Amino acid sequence: MSFPTHRPRRLRQSPAVRRLVRETRLDPAQLILPAFVREGIAEPVEISSMPGVQQHTLDSLRRSATDAAAAGIGGIMLFGVPAVRDARGSGADDPRGILNVATEALVAEVGDALVVQTDLCLDEFTDHGHCGVLAADGSVDNDATLERYAAMGLAQARAGSPMLGLSGMMDGQVAHVRAALDAEGFTDTLLLAYSAKYAGAFYGPFREAVDSQLQGDRRTYQLDPANAREGVREAVLDVEEGADVVMVKPALPYLDVLAEVRATVDVPVWAYQVSGEFAMIEAAAANGWIDRRGAVLESLLSIRRAGADAVLTYFALEAAAWLRE
Ligand code: PBG
Repeated sequence: MSFPTHRPRRLRQSPAVRRLVRETRLDPAQLILPAFVREGIAEPVEISSMPGVQQHTLDSLRRSATDAAAAGIGGIMLFGVPAVRDARGSGADDPRGILNVATEALVAEVGDALVVQTDLCLDEFTDHGHCGVLAADGSVDNDATLERYAAMGLAQARAGSPMLGLSGMMDGQVAHVRAALDAEGFTDTLLLAYSAKYAGAFYGPFREAVDSQLQGDRRTYQLDPANAREGVREAVLDVEEGADVVMVKPALPYLDVLAEVRATVDVPVWAYQVSGEFAMIEAAAANGWIDRRGAVLESLLSIRRAGADAVLTYFALEAAAWLRE
């Protein structure tokens, strides 16, 4: 009879030992809650494909942000849903536009406790639903869009946003917005670049959440799901352009990209557990096919383990509460 020389199971023998040797931890401070605020509604509106997530009124948004601060999470990412849209997304840089008004209110309410972040992209504001403005042939015009992003970035900075989330995947967007901010003295405004953002099937519920007008797809600007190296290259370019934080999105289907980006750049790397990832867990849990709490915490832990320093997740408040138990 020969006995094993190596006994890795020693490290798993009790909850106390397992806790002591755990490599990855989840902390509420590393969670960021995405939130939607809609113009012109008197009551919050439920999003059917995202159980428990709402389009907020200004009041319910403020309450939710206060809860977020009390839960000890790190930040809140704000998306606006305007009542009126047009081809150039005029509501995006209008100081009275819903996103800018909500930003001002939130920063006043929770700005000391949480990092308020604002989505810097045109898709919620355009009547065609694309992330940029269109050229005469219907294609998304990269450089004309950069001008719109600069105006939008300035409007958000003037509304008090400390961190802008560049989610449009236009070439040169980080450098362009950085230069526009610096020229106006907003040298401290943080830029979060959605560097490796993949065009795919996991954003469906978000489109309902922001009442998206998009026909077609975003494959001429978001990344091809087949390409990992290209995602890493985008992150490197964004760091060169001055991104303070880079992001990989979606999260769970792209853990390989996340790990590679983490190994390549030296700025914080975040990941976005997107609406489709959220909806899959919710749908399976609602059917009794999966343990909801276990799946939520395991998915977040796995995203952290793969290399994310922080995670944007619709589960942020609930996960933070569980982590504090
Ligand atoms: C673009 C944007 C999208 C998401 C975040 N920012 C939609 C898209 O690219 O189609 C999706 C987030 C999610 O699915 O939860 N402004």
